[in-house]
Amino acid sequence: MPENDITPAIQFQGVGKRFGDNVVLDGLDFSVAKGDRVTLIGPSGSGKTTILRLLMTLEEANDGLIYVDGDCYTHEMRDGKRVAIPEKRRSLVRRRVGMVFQQFNLFPNMTVLENIIEAPIHVLGKPKAEAIASAEALLDKVGLADKRDARTMQLSGGQQQRVAIARALAMEPEILLLDEVTSALDPELVADVLGVLRNIAETTDITMLIVTHEMQFAREVSNRVLMFDGGKIIEEADPDTIFTSPKHERTQEFLRAIL
Ligand SMILES: Nc1ncnc2c1ncn2[C@@H]1O[C@H](COP(=O)(O)OP(=O)(O)O)[C@@H](O)[C@H]1O
Ligand SMILES: [Mg+2]
Repeated sequence: MPENDITPAIQFQGVGKRFGDNVVLDGLDFSVAKGDRVTLIGPSGSGKTTILRLLMTLEEANDGLIYVDGDCYTHEMRDGKRVAIPEKRRSLVRRRVGMVFQQFNLFPNMTVLENIIEAPIHVLGKPKAEAIASAEALLDKVGLADKRDARTMQLSGGQQQRVAIARALAMEPEILLLDEVTSALDPELVADVLGVLRNIAETTDITMLIVTHEMQFAREVSNRVLMFDGGKIIEEADPDTIFTSPKHERTQEFLRAIL
């Protein structure tokens, strides 16, 4: 990326999200610079997953605007009115964003390789041979070259999650969203997955938005931490500062409870 490009990778501008009467996000503003690794922390129900799901268009905001690399994503202002952007234009932005979920969400009836090449072929229109070559390189990177033709159901949770990471990377995303990707794993499998993510953080300049309870990992990988409570950012700092001397009482309480 050009060093003088200061357009944020992600910008939320007055974003509101409600589920019925439950106001989850209310006028949320924040932005993430290109190449930033931002960890979102905060109690369960504070809106972290909702933010990531908005960025995948799995949910739709009720108010405000979301920009990806300067482009309006799901809504834009036209003649002073907030209007929905048609699916065709949304999908062009969406393909620049990848997500890995707590529950892996692999296609169970496909092999590992088929899981990874599906979207590059059908969404990006990559030639099959090229998609396979990239998938093999990614499987190597996540330490699963030998599982290429396995059915995903035959894999451990940690292996499935590493396939899910490879699948997200196969779309060559500019932004990678990670939602508690180790929370469903047996403790002995967590380290492998975190190792893979550490390596990706070190060897790429992908912008990352990370929700995790692995505070040591957050400290190593991220350069900013945002503390959410009740759908608002109540504190933000670099990881060393927030983990050693959190200012807000809610942050102190939260960190005491999970550390
Ligand atoms: N699909 C949904 N339908 C109704 N309520 C939802 C839905 N998704 C999330 N919520 C509610 O939104 C709030 C924020 O949830 P979430 O973003 O999952 O928080 P977090 O990831 O920080 O735990 C919670 O009160 C949750 O119950
Ligand atoms: Mg969540």
